[in-house]
Amino acid sequence: MNLYLISAFILTCLPFSLQTKHDFDLLIFTQNWPATVCKEWKKMNPQHQCSMPRKNDAWSIHGIWPTKLGTIGPSFCNRTWLFDPDKIQPIENRLLEEWTNIFNGTSNYALWAHEWTKHGTCAAQLETLNSEFKYFSMGLDWLEKYSMGNILSKAGITPSNSQDYHITAINDAIKKQLDIDPAIECRKMDGSSFITEIRICFTKDLKLCDCDGVLARRDIGSDSIITNCDGNKNIIYPHYKENSMYIQLYKLVTWLQWFTF
Ligand SMILES: *[C@@H]1O[C@H](CO)[C@@H](O)[C@H](O)[C@H]1NC(C)=O
Ligand SMILES: *[C@@H]1O[C@H](CO)[C@@H](O)[C@H](O)[C@H]1NC(C)=O
Repeated sequence: MNLYLISAFILTCLPFSLQTKHDFDLLIFTQNWPATVCKEWKKMNPQHQCSMPRKNDAWSIHGIWPTKLGTIGPSFCNRTWLFDPDKIQPIENRLLEEWTNIFNGTSNYALWAHEWTKHGTCAAQLETLNSEFKYFSMGLDWLEKYSMGNILSKAGITPSNSQDYHITAINDAIKKQLDIDPAIECRKMDGSSFITEIRICFTKDLKLCDCDGVLARRDIGSDSIITNCDGNKNIIYPHYKENSMYIQLYKLVTWLQWFTF
């Protein structure tokens, strides 16, 4: 390439790309369903264990993700702004319960550090989210307001290992209560479709909005739903099963031993 082209590129493209590289249109607030996340983690390796939130059947926060429509990200907007545990110390106990790192064996801070450096440093362009404390506090506020556990149970959709649900019922429950289209994600395991994440979206001034452009829409019956879930089969919204019966039995036996000797 000749020098002229290089300098033309630097002069015209570089200022432009610096300006727009980290732009975004909306914020995705993602909640995950720990029982499915755990099942997937254990499927990757039978030795894996899960650190579940203490509260049973509670949805957990995955992250707040700035997103430019039609793409993924921006991400890692400031690589020198590292996660600092001291900054979230006042809310750490709540985060442990509500923004839980389910992958036991990885550091307590691994999930938060990842979410902060990848997404939080981009969200920080907004005054409302321009510190670690604000970013993580917003997640807690939104979970309190928009917990999928509450929203789904109001529509009679509760975790179950015997009953399953149609994607339309899940989508309708959220649409009816929040008046926006969410994005619903499933994982296929053992030939079944398990609900794993529900995303709701916010404009940059933090008003709820449709999640168009986040996942593709699919026509399911007469509905158009933003999802990767199976439209032809029901979806499982499972209860977490703590231990196999053998482990329960083993616990009982060791307890009895302790008790009798
Ligand atoms: C995580 O695993 C460790 C051992 O690797 C275990 O001692 C601990 O109880 C586990 N935590 C949870 C919450 O299951
Ligand atoms: C990146 O983060 C550091 C640490 O907070 C800050 O001092 C710096 O101004 C930030 N850089 C940009 C380009 O925002």
